[in-house]
Amino acid sequence: MPVSSRSIIGRSARVDLEGIDFNSFETQPLAVETLRCLRYMCDVESHTICYLREILATSAHRDPDITAFLACWNYEEFWHGEALGQVLELHRLPGAKESAQDLRRERKWLDELRLLTFNIGSLIADDFVAIQMCWGAINELTAQAAYARMIAKAQHPELSELVRRIMKQEGRHLDFYEGEARKRLLKSRRAQRLARFALTKFWAPVGSGVVSNSEVAHMASYLFADEEGLVAAQRVDRKFSRLPGLDGLTLLETAARRGGKAAALRQ
Ligand SMILES: [Fe+2]
Ligand SMILES: [Fe+2]
Repeated sequence: MPVSSRSIIGRSARVDLEGIDFNSFETQPLAVETLRCLRYMCDVESHTICYLREILATSAHRDPDITAFLACWNYEEFWHGEALGQVLELHRLPGAKESAQDLRRERKWLDELRLLTFNIGSLIADDFVAIQMCWGAINELTAQAAYARMIAKAQHPELSELVRRIMKQEGRHLDFYEGEARKRLLKSRRAQRLARFALTKFWAPVGSGVVSNSEVAHMASYLFADEEGLVAAQRVDRKFSRLPGLDGLTLLETAARRGGKAAALRQ
């Protein structure tokens, strides 16, 4: 059964920061590698409003269940970006707003071109919403796994607590996307074939095409290219490929191995 948008809206909230000791980052700062990955995560979270713009350019905007979910999803992701930005600022790095401003200024034409592909895709493919729901599901699954890996890598109690709270909300996002994707894929063999084709050809970790390739490679390599990371990536792939028609896909594992190679070449 798809998760009703109502059950998500009812619980939608700004991520709770109560009791998190942000001062601990002054006395126990994060490692440079962790901060680099956190910058990536903060930028991607803050970019959600731009992803929303693309989704709304498609026929997804006609479905009130989806738009209700998207309203809350965007709100929660915004506050994830702000919370991570707060941690970055404590390390004398740009916060969420400053970084988003730079990122969006640089992307002017790219953003318009991307938007056009969503418009056209939606016009020519009836099943475009099914593909978007699949995209949402794999991205939320990846986000959850990435945060879990961040906890394991950083070994910082306050960051762990903050990230756990963010992960809880990512889990609800995943439930919605997964339920909607399953419902739509079950209805249409063509949607299954299209989604499989699009994911295999075009999926890359969320943030690709937004932040620089070197940062995508660093994130994939830092979080997923070692032994434990690959196990986590395979777990994501196994879960995702339980969706109708998507069996056997190894999207995150492939991206992790690619990221690991690219990062090694840059060293
Ligand atoms: Fe998030
Ligand atoms: Fe999310």
